[in-house]
Amino acid sequence: MAELKLCNVTKIFPWANQSEKDKARESQNPQFTEEGVIAVKDFSVEVADREFIVLVGPSGCGKSTTLRMIAGLEDPDEGEIFIGGENVIGVAPKKRDISMVFQNYALFPHMTVYENMAFGLKMRKVSKDIIDRKVREAAEILGLTEYLGRKPKALSGGQRQRVAIGRAIVREPKLFLMDEPLSNLDAKLRNQMRAEIIKLRKKLDTTFVYVTHDQTEAMTLGDRIIIMKDGFVQQIGTPKEIFEHPANLFVAGFIGLPQMNLFPARLIRKDNEYSVLIGGVIFPLSQKTNEALLAKNSPDRDITLGVRPEHLFVSEKGIPAEVELCEMMGSSHHIHVTFDGNEAVVVIPAIEDHGLSSGDKIRLSFDGAKAHLFGGDGKNLI
Ligand SMILES: Nc1ncnc2c1ncn2[C@@H]1O[C@H](COP(=O)(O)OP(=O)(O)O)[C@@H](O)[C@H]1O
Ligand SMILES: [Mg+2]
Repeated sequence: MAELKLCNVTKIFPWANQSEKDKARESQNPQFTEEGVIAVKDFSVEVADREFIVLVGPSGCGKSTTLRMIAGLEDPDEGEIFIGGENVIGVAPKKRDISMVFQNYALFPHMTVYENMAFGLKMRKVSKDIIDRKVREAAEILGLTEYLGRKPKALSGGQRQRVAIGRAIVREPKLFLMDEPLSNLDAKLRNQMRAEIIKLRKKLDTTFVYVTHDQTEAMTLGDRIIIMKDGFVQQIGTPKEIFEHPANLFVAGFIGLPQMNLFPARLIRKDNEYSVLIGGVIFPLSQKTNEALLAKNSPDRDITLGVRPEHLFVSEKGIPAEVELCEMMGSSHHIHVTFDGNEAVVVIPAIEDHGLSSGDKIRLSFDGAKAHLFGGDGKNLI
């Protein structure tokens, strides 16, 4: 149990040699600078006691480095980190009262599940009785009781990962750090373990920092999500806040499956009423959006319009479009359409018999309240 606070944390890995530096000069990656790789820049967040926070972003955006700095495995170049109110910069990892679970968890192959889980406590000279109680409690929570006598090779991938989590649980840490703990599992197991982590979290009174590159994991597990790109925090918010109001185009495209449709469009202001023009059709915006734009005195301008696939629908009036392809996804249909050189995906629940096939001419519409508006700098206009 502890709150966690990061203030302007920055980590830059200097180049090992001149040839690395030369290669970096040719790279398009904005993280590669003269100084070195900017792994994390100006990262600030306050995580509440017992909050489950998820750090999400593409590979290389600085998630693991952030977690390693919280754990004390890496020192920030700048900034402060507080765990339970204590500044932990300079405090050794083992004195930070944290547990960490990695993607490549390594269990001791010659030890049983029980011994694997007990190992860390044994090293800390915890008494046998207490070790026994804690290991059995953790095994119970994780459904491993009947496997305590087995060796890792006699376990499935999911069970092994549970042992790795068990090893971390027995320490009853103030802070639980997990770095892509499910990414080595196949899709089905990953879904199962995701549900187990949700249950686990309810049983443990601990603060969680969970790293993943998977937006579904982030959306389903996090009380709040921190989205990173190229070493920079893009947005921090609840899954709902981020889904409904992505701060920029990157977040808009990253969160939500299938991805949000993005189209070039024109924002129009007439008699203090805003609307968007797209595909020759004018869509009025919601009153809330209107008020926000008025407050900013936003002029007419070219924008990027974002509409989620589940918010586009086929209607009598609307943007003339052509059906390219219909995909049956199980619980929904994904209809791929084109108009004016734009591609879009429309999601229709499977229970609706849409009767569409490729080549059909249709019209597309959306509710202005569901429109996301982005300016030339990629930032949300409101
Ligand atoms: N020890 C290191 N030395 C040099 N560069 C590193 C080191 N660790 C990470 N990096 C670089 O820092 C960036 C962020 O890495 P990382 O935090 O591992 O990203 P993520 O976990 O989001 O995939 C990457 O460009 C990575 O190559
Ligand atoms: Mg990583």
